[in-house]
Amino acid sequence: MVTVGLICDRVRWDEKELIKAVRRRGAKPLIIDQKNIFLDITGGKDNIPEADIYLQRSVSTLKGLYISKILEEKGCTVINSFESSRICADKLLTTLALAKAGIPTPRTLIAFDIESGLEALEQLGYPAVIKPVIGSWGRFVALLRDRQTARSIMEERTFMGALYQTFYLQEYVEKIGKKDIRSFVVGDRVVAAIYRIAVKDELRTNTALGGRAEACQITPEIENLSLRAAEAVGGDGVYGVDILIGDKGMMVNEVNHTVEFHTTVPVTGIDVPGLIIDYVLERVK
Ligand SMILES: Nc1ncnc2c1ncn2[C@@H]1O[C@H](COP(=O)(O)OP(=O)(O)O)[C@@H](O)[C@H]1O
Ligand SMILES: [Mg+2]
Repeated sequence: MVTVGLICDRVRWDEKELIKAVRRRGAKPLIIDQKNIFLDITGGKDNIPEADIYLQRSVSTLKGLYISKILEEKGCTVINSFESSRICADKLLTTLALAKAGIPTPRTLIAFDIESGLEALEQLGYPAVIKPVIGSWGRFVALLRDRQTARSIMEERTFMGALYQTFYLQEYVEKIGKKDIRSFVVGDRVVAAIYRIAVKDELRTNTALGGRAEACQITPEIENLSLRAAEAVGGDGVYGVDILIGDKGMMVNEVNHTVEFHTTVPVTGIDVPGLIIDYVLERVK
């Protein structure tokens, strides 16, 4: 019997559905709680359960990345791969990869100091957007309306720790219809897409912040852009692609490597967890 190791720190609805999908396909799920494992990175014995393939579902980005890397070094297959996860986990690396692949993405400038940050923002114009290079659920993604706000926010971030001192500054994209798109790439297919609509007066459409979801038809443009974006960060995995639609058309905002689908399944009726597990089992062969 094929075993699928699900590496988790929390078993949310999403993980429960993945576990059910594994069982339904006659395979055996092994729920591997981060808290319970130790890993020998010098070649000795550790206590992580052996599986034919591992699916990385950790909410904690850094811990997830480390576990994936260690498992890969042991010769295991992990979805997604460490290398592509490392790129997705970091918005700076993601934007670099997207730009290199010629994929439309908002103009982004990086600065490491408040004064040079303000200079970069003069290039972008106001309003602009600032983000932590590592983060999710829209956390600390902020709109910089003017120079004074920009200075204040960068000043605060200087005291938030080293991670926040790399200023990722981005052109603001006015969303047509006040919504953006999240598409789901599984292997070489785009299996689902939703529109996300922010709550009133909110920049961020993240469902974690109350953003509402609506089914979205997978047009050839969405399909093409999503597949190219997934490929640009490493491909061969499961990805959530954020697409902004502004007056210059569609642009890829970011690519996520551990996707949540608890909103997408009820809204689209598409069995995203089932399709993910089909792909995972396909990779075992
Ligand atoms: N440049 C931008 N212009 C307009 N809205 C943006 C821009 N960047 C991000 N957003 C909004 O903020 C949300 C969160 O930003 P995102 O880069 O996806 O970070 P996170 O990883 O926290 O989801 C996006 O889904 C989008 O709605
Ligand atoms: Mg996002």
